[in-house]
Amino acid sequence: MVSARNAPRHTIVHSSEPMMQRPPAPAATPEPSRPGLPRHVGIIMDGNGRWARRRHLPRVAGHRAGVRAIRPVMEACDRAGVHILTLYAFSTENWSRPRHEVDALMRLFGETIESEIGELHDNGVQIRVLGDRRRLSGALQRKVADAEALTADNTTAILNVAINYGGRGEIVAAVRELAARGVDLAELDEETMSRALYTAGLPDPDLIIRTAGEMRISNFMLWQAAYAELYVTDTLWPDFGEAALDGALQAFAGRERKFGTVNDRVPAPIIDAVRASPVG
Ligand code: FPP
Repeated sequence: MVSARNAPRHTIVHSSEPMMQRPPAPAATPEPSRPGLPRHVGIIMDGNGRWARRRHLPRVAGHRAGVRAIRPVMEACDRAGVHILTLYAFSTENWSRPRHEVDALMRLFGETIESEIGELHDNGVQIRVLGDRRRLSGALQRKVADAEALTADNTTAILNVAINYGGRGEIVAAVRELAARGVDLAELDEETMSRALYTAGLPDPDLIIRTAGEMRISNFMLWQAAYAELYVTDTLWPDFGEAALDGALQAFAGRERKFGTVNDRVPAPIIDAVRASPVG
């Protein structure tokens, strides 16, 4: 007999429980206003704690300042012509922070959704939350669901907020769900996998910005970031504003995106020779 003690350590998912609760499908995939801009920008908002420490304030004051930085950056994206933005607000690893900090962040998410949703909706922004929302409080889950339902048909811009999100967990959850749906995993292809993620229907991020200087991706959009351009700035998130965003967009415009191939500036005969070679 299998007792609770020696039972295999599988996560039990009851059949009535959705394995992966995705946000509503994107109502549109708005294009950037001019060539050379990213269609989709992801931001790893880091440095709230350091911002607070420098001012001898509690860390939570840094998170509050971090929330205040969001609206100007969204407005700057809109002015610049970028219409799909993903903000990494809380990772699956962030639960290990002190309880009072986690509680404060969760409260901030709820309060911010409540205070901003009206204006975001009026501006035609579709709000979507990426991540495993089952661990959020019932009240926060309801706020998220209400915000997503209210804005589900908006097409001007998309704001994804990643809460209790981890790229590895997302991939594992997607594969488990595909297996449970009877998809033959031996035949699994990239297209099917992409459609099983929280970001189903969205273009991959072209540009991922990380504030506060760390050179790592921290479990953010691991699948979707395959060909993203990375831009790291020392600016702390609460100080990141329009000028900093424009700096990132300018850097992006200057990048040469090769997607693993050779670029157009290489003389055509060389491109032909590379393509014809067995390892081209
Ligand atoms: C990292 O800074 C930041 C976070 C873990 C939280 C980011 C969340 C916000 C800015 C609030 C977002 C709110 C909504 C509604 C989207 P850190 O605390 O790790 O900074 P440190 O590395 O300097 O300590």
